Amino acid sequence: MTPDYPLLARQLEALLDTRDWLTNSAQASAFLMQEIPELNWAGFYLHREPETLCLGPFQGKPACHPIPFGKGVCGAAARTRQTRRIADVHAVADHIACDAASAAELVVPIVAGDRLWGVLDLDSPVKGRFTAADQAGIEALVAVFVERTDLQ
Ligand code: SME
Repeated sequence: MTPDYPLLARQLEALLDTRDWLTNSAQASAFLMQEIPELNWAGFYLHREPETLCLGPFQGKPACHPIPFGKGVCGAAARTRQTRRIADVHAVADHIACDAASAAELVVPIVAGDRLWGVLDLDSPVKGRFTAADQAGIEALVAVFVERTDLQ
């Protein structure tokens, strides 16, 4: 069943009551992990070095770091600034396997002005977990995060 994303967006708005990117991204990753069913990893990669994603606040197993823009699902989302919704990560040749349990992945780029600030990465152990409705809902949650946070 698709989560009630409009409700989650209102709850996230209430939760993100600082403008601080570190506090808000830590809270957002914990919130997503708690509220979205069937995830094994939820977190942020930050664009702090040229063409490179650095691991940020997350929930789940220790993860891969760093990820160059040229590699993996996260790299592709960062490079193209478009959401990547992958039904079966094992079908993606350069998928980076951090947790062997991951089967499906959704990566949403986070853009502040004209700058790529980072990406939000969600992994699921269930193949095909993320529908188009999940993508739209999670992109709306990312929009709340962007709106509520001073992104540096
Ligand atoms: N699977 C990702 C790497 C990050 S982890 O899933 C947390 C990728 O291929 O970019």
